[in-house]
Amino acid sequence: AICNLDALEILDSRGEPTLQVRVILEGGASAVAAVPAGASTGRHEAREARDADPERYRGRGVSRAASAVRGRIAEGLRGLDAADQKQIDGRLIALDGTPDKSGLGANAILGVSMAAARAAAQASGRPLYVHLGGGDATLLPMPCLNVLNGGRHADSSLDVQEFMLVPVGMPTFARAMRCAAETYHAIRDLLHERSLSTAVGDEGGFAPKLPDNEAALDLIVAATERAGYRPGEDVAIAIDPAATSFAVEGGYDLVRSGTGRLDRGGLLALYGRWIERWPIVSIEDGFGEDDWAGFVAQTAAQGKRIQVMGDDLLCTNTRLIEQAIAEDACNAALIKLNQIGTVTETAAAVAMCREAGWASMVSHRSGETTDAFIADFAVAMGCGQIKSGAPCRGERLAKYNRLLEIEAELGPRARFENPFAHRRH
Ligand code: PGA
Ligand code: ZN
Repeated sequence: AICNLDALEILDSRGEPTLQVRVILEGGASAVAAVPAGASTGRHEAREARDADPERYRGRGVSRAASAVRGRIAEGLRGLDAADQKQIDGRLIALDGTPDKSGLGANAILGVSMAAARAAAQASGRPLYVHLGGGDATLLPMPCLNVLNGGRHADSSLDVQEFMLVPVGMPTFARAMRCAAETYHAIRDLLHERSLSTAVGDEGGFAPKLPDNEAALDLIVAATERAGYRPGEDVAIAIDPAATSFAVEGGYDLVRSGTGRLDRGGLLALYGRWIERWPIVSIEDGFGEDDWAGFVAQTAAQGKRIQVMGDDLLCTNTRLIEQAIAEDACNAALIKLNQIGTVTETAAAVAMCREAGWASMVSHRSGETTDAFIADFAVAMGCGQIKSGAPCRGERLAKYNRLLEIEAELGPRARFENPFAHRRH
């Protein structure tokens, strides 16, 4: 049973304060979890608590959230069975009492929820992915590695926030990581040869001043070949335009690349041309978070061919996912624990996707820590896809390295599949 909670204000990969929560069980065993934070956050995300004290960390401190963990939440959870995740998360939601978790703060709530899961796993002597997913949790996720950073994640010339390598043709997770790392290194070589910057953005991808978004797609294909792989067959491409960040009244303005203003139809046609020309298998947030009609049009026009995925649109929220399923607005959801705030609600979002025949992809945030919770979570959920940035920066590698460990531990029981095999590209 839970005996006490503690919390510490630590720093994330952008040097912003975040929470590390410790759950202490009766008998003294304990486990910690650290909370991530986004930059291009969705409007419907659960609200993290920030101190708003301009004297500390430009108002971004989390000392009030830490106090909530040590005080009200600890009181409310004392005596509960750490292995009963549903009960713990239900209690957290009740203690908070708001629909967007602004009462106690989504960061405080999620930290407790994740640390409780880890403490329970430890107490049972099982790895976290088995504790959360059971003995059948043997599917390793296809990694989607963000190797070129644009939008709000970098000071680059790319409107599209993320260009990801998807090593679809590799037989194992470990082989997929090798393929992606070799291709990543080939991108660096190509940038270097062109005297372009090899400095990296928030998620470890390069952030060069390329002429436009199309040049980024060309660069990925060139690097794939340079590394000795076949574009499309071995290495496909996923993109996250995070279009909310360039949505304007009545349309979209791709200012960074100089592409300029497009209406909804123009942007859809642009994606259509990209899909024809480059081996793109997934587009996330191709339209703004309020442009449901854009998502519906894309799913109708391109949804057989590519994965149309909602991130800011859906915010890991089952109410929004349910609406999107009913309206055929996507065919996949991005899954972020801190968008909704508890392990139980996040698992429910994955389950809802599965029942609808949708795909789902577990995701890191642009502000991360070395906590690798999402690696175990992705295997536990069996959703078959993860994104955790480039094979660069320790907080990104922590997740991929944990997955390498899990694959090795599962041995011959480990499974690895191309989730895009049924799509035409
Ligand atoms: P964020 O970006 O963590 O900054 O929100 C990730 C994403 O948009 O997928
Ligand atoms: Zn996104």
